[in-house]
Amino acid sequence: MKKTILVTGGAGYIGSHTVVELLEAQYSVIVIDNLYNSSIGAITAIKNITGKDLIFYEGDCTDFNFLKNIFNKNKIDAVIHFAGYKAVGESVEKPLFYYKNNLDSTMTLLAVMREFLCTKFVFSSSATVYLDPNDVKYNETTTQTNRPFSPYGSTKLVQEYILEDVAKGFEFEKVGGLQVVSLRYFNPIGAHFSGELGEDPNGVPNNLAPYITQVAVGRLRTLQVFGDDYPTPDGTCLRDYIHVVDLAKGHLSGLEYIFAKEGKFFDPINLGTGAPVSVFQVIESFSKAVGKSIPYEVVGRRSGDLAEFYADPVKAKKVLDWQTTLDLDKMTADSWNWQKRHPNGFKNL
Ligand code: NAD
Ligand code: UD1
Repeated sequence: MKKTILVTGGAGYIGSHTVVELLEAQYSVIVIDNLYNSSIGAITAIKNITGKDLIFYEGDCTDFNFLKNIFNKNKIDAVIHFAGYKAVGESVEKPLFYYKNNLDSTMTLLAVMREFLCTKFVFSSSATVYLDPNDVKYNETTTQTNRPFSPYGSTKLVQEYILEDVAKGFEFEKVGGLQVVSLRYFNPIGAHFSGELGEDPNGVPNNLAPYITQVAVGRLRTLQVFGDDYPTPDGTCLRDYIHVVDLAKGHLSGLEYIFAKEGKFFDPINLGTGAPVSVFQVIESFSKAVGKSIPYEVVGRRSGDLAEFYADPVKAKKVLDWQTTLDLDKMTADSWNWQKRHPNGFKNL
């Protein structure tokens, strides 16, 4: 029988791509989203791409009764939890807003899952949970500095602690224990191959790929490259960019793993390519995709940026039998295909 997956934040960037893959793999899907950072246009696009239907509830994951009502009406086999706020800079300005939404969502969801005997949880974590690797000496300031760079990162780490503790504890015992796969994403970019679904950030993008596509489409003037004096081959920072469709498929592998494995557990797993790519390489690849050079100027370093940051993806291969298949040129071509077809994102749909 078809399994039913509850996808919170399923109208968002990664969630919507994952819902497409779930529907194509014959899962039944229920999406919850409060549309704080997304649009109903994403749900329409999912239906158009797949030719399949899904159940959509507009509402908030911090609302216990709203969630309870959904679990009452539907038999849910597993949850993939994407819902959360994710803007690093905004989290520095509004930490309480971030902690409240991200932690409350996860805890409320867990409370309702426990009530309805649902024990399978795939969590959207982030590479930001990793601490500063340069901080190896322990001294009195360690507890202050050896932590994620932003309140956003801290919310992810604390959510992991909560999930790990609940998985170890006895509150889910009568149903065999909580099973959690925590997927730590590196830098997702790209869009669905159809060009009908993609990243649609609110306001001026902070991240590299959407900034470049908005320059290419004429919404922004020039890309600023944050530093070319890093100790890297071309002086710009190295990151692990991953195609959002590869990432979406990683969630299906996570689900299969959770459905096959017995007992209670919390398993953190990196989803990345393992290949470091520089800012200049990303710009060059986008220039090929767009067919003209991307205007940029080199400016000073952005505070908090690390010179290099990329995944060891070995565990994902071993445990999930998952690895990336799509290269940088495919990522940039798909990002551009989405942006040129939808210069204003979902806003005009
Ligand atoms: P997104 O903002 O596009 O999607 C998140 C969705 O959750 C949005 O549609 C938003 O409206 C919804 N939402 C937020 N709070 C909610 C709540 N309380 N109740 C219901 N819906 C709520 O972000 P994304 O890029 O798709 O990221 C998905 C998840 O992956 C997030 O948890 C994010 O922190 C994590 N993540 C993202 C990245 C990235 O680079 N995009 C990297 C690592 C981790
Ligand atoms: C950032 C977040 C991380 C989050 C990730 C994906 C920080 C410190 N980290 O990672 O928590 O998971 O986004 O959402 O904010 N760059 C430019 N010009 C720009 C934008 C970016 O040169 O206009 C450079 C950056 O300096 C960096 C690279 O491009 O070297 C990638 O930046 P970005 O897309 O913001 O991702 P991260 O900083 O790696």
